Amino acid sequence: MKKNLNAEPLSKNNHLRQWVDKMAELCQPDQIHWVDGTQAEYDRFCNEMVAAGTFIRLDEKKWPGCFLARSDASDVARVEDRTFICSLAKEAAGPTNNWVNPAEMKRKLRGLFQGCMKGRTMYVLAFSMGPLGSPMSQIGVQLTDSPYVVVNMRIMARIGKKVFDLIGEDTHIVPCLHSVGAPLEKGQRDVPWPCNQEKYIVHFPETREIWSYGSGYGGNALLGKKCFALRIASTMARDEGWLAEHMLILGVENPEGEKTYVAAAFPSACGKTNFAMLIPPKPFAEKGWKVWTVGDDIAWIKPGADGRLHAINPEAGFFGVAPGTGNKTNPIAMATLAKNTIFTNVALTPDGGVWWEGMTDTPPAKAIDWQGNEWTPQIAKDKGVKAAHANSRFTAPASQCPTIDPDWEKPEGVPLSAIIFGGRRATTMPLVYQAFNWSTGVYMGATMGSEMTAAAAGTLGKVRRDPMAMLPFCGYHMGDYFRHWIAMQRKLTETPRVFHVNWFRKDAAGKFLWPGFGENMRVLKWIIDRARGRAVAKETPIGWTPHYEDMDWKGLDFSKEQFEELQHFDRAAWRKEILDHEDLFLDLHSHLPKEMIYERELLICRM
Ligand code: OXD
Ligand code: MN
Repeated sequence: MKKNLNAEPLSKNNHLRQWVDKMAELCQPDQIHWVDGTQAEYDRFCNEMVAAGTFIRLDEKKWPGCFLARSDASDVARVEDRTFICSLAKEAAGPTNNWVNPAEMKRKLRGLFQGCMKGRTMYVLAFSMGPLGSPMSQIGVQLTDSPYVVVNMRIMARIGKKVFDLIGEDTHIVPCLHSVGAPLEKGQRDVPWPCNQEKYIVHFPETREIWSYGSGYGGNALLGKKCFALRIASTMARDEGWLAEHMLILGVENPEGEKTYVAAAFPSACGKTNFAMLIPPKPFAEKGWKVWTVGDDIAWIKPGADGRLHAINPEAGFFGVAPGTGNKTNPIAMATLAKNTIFTNVALTPDGGVWWEGMTDTPPAKAIDWQGNEWTPQIAKDKGVKAAHANSRFTAPASQCPTIDPDWEKPEGVPLSAIIFGGRRATTMPLVYQAFNWSTGVYMGATMGSEMTAAAAGTLGKVRRDPMAMLPFCGYHMGDYFRHWIAMQRKLTETPRVFHVNWFRKDAAGKFLWPGFGENMRVLKWIIDRARGRAVAKETPIGWTPHYEDMDWKGLDFSKEQFEELQHFDRAAWRKEILDHEDLFLDLHSHLPKEMIYERELLICRM
């Protein structure tokens, strides 16, 4: 019999208790702990991790309630090549996902999980994705042997006793099994960041299960995030008529107090968090424009009773990319992460604080880098060593965000007026354009491309097609996913307007053409005015674009010539772009909805 740290399991649900027992039998932890989610419990886990060397407590005065963790150097990002969608049929997973037959994968995983928690505690963590009790929320239970995961999940989701209380005898929960894959022999000393070189991040869409082995990092291990809220939820959404998307959600309030919500999809590490926390430039702010944050990474979107799409943020925290986040680029994020935040793989400063590239203009004179080595600006110059890993992160509570929307936990979500797609593109893509209609918008999202970033292992800078920013996150065939998007229109009396943006276009000398994130409000204002039928635009072969005069330039010295270079429709580049779409469509052809073929033909005709 396994020892129980809590006198009683926190749930009376028999299926759940039997599953916990069965998994404990397989994984053979030394102890089981049902996570109650209290502050006292969180503090205890953090203290234990400080004692174990996993956490470093930051200076209490400057960084109250904050900790730094350094991962193993081999466990720093999502591992897309080790991520599997094990649907019964290979065809159902599609060519953009890794697939293994589910029975074969289960056999493999059972072997790996056999005894994998020896010497460790198995935590039983109930979590709600979405506000507690919202009709749009879903419940999962993660079994994990990582206390780092437990404390991060407490920030990223609603967890603990109050979630167990919502699990009735018939409540459907998503079972999530996670292990770092590093059992301890009797007397064996633990390492600060246990993990295994062999990694498996596995989803079973039909049975709605997640098994994750070998990694303790981010989306590989915090299973509510990418695994549940995107990969499994996208299959639920397909079956139930809603959308689970890799999108931020924000609300724009104009000086008259009218609020307009938009959702925006960008690939990982393309500035979603910065966009979600946008501060309007001074002339806008002075007039009373405000941007409210609902979420920075994931949106669950459903048709509401009013025939419009409504969105919730299923998460409760931000797992943001640290490098590039600073008082200049994102003071709202800096205020959000000033307390009660877990930092992973950033640098430690001699005064017990943290630093990363882009946090301040002047680096500290010295620091300890993310791998625990001495670091100075000179070492950085001589050896090219970064103080923080490019994919280092902060895990911070959304409730601490100064611009968190008063309605961010509204059970029925917020109504969406616009959907924005965007990528990191040095060429071809203008600053902003609007799709002609819903199906052109779906085509626009489906053919989105972006240069690769450090959020995933891969070649930095290479343009890859990343449909709706969901390439690594769609739990089924991408062609069927496009069909589902097209079909959504039939459930609505009013579709959101669809736009594409690109903040990253460069001139011939390689310099960014757009002055920076801070100015994105100008684009957002045009988008909102278009969505509300108030702004003018001109027709181009790819969609509606603003004239220079249609944008509000107050307080920014940006000439018509600069704007036109940024908006330039480059026919030759678009020829190449469309040929590249063909590559994606060939991969997906057997499931591609005919609307995508027609849209492509129309685009070619307009060229
Ligand atoms: C993330 C990602 O962590 O997209 O949000 O990789
Ligand atoms: Mn993301």
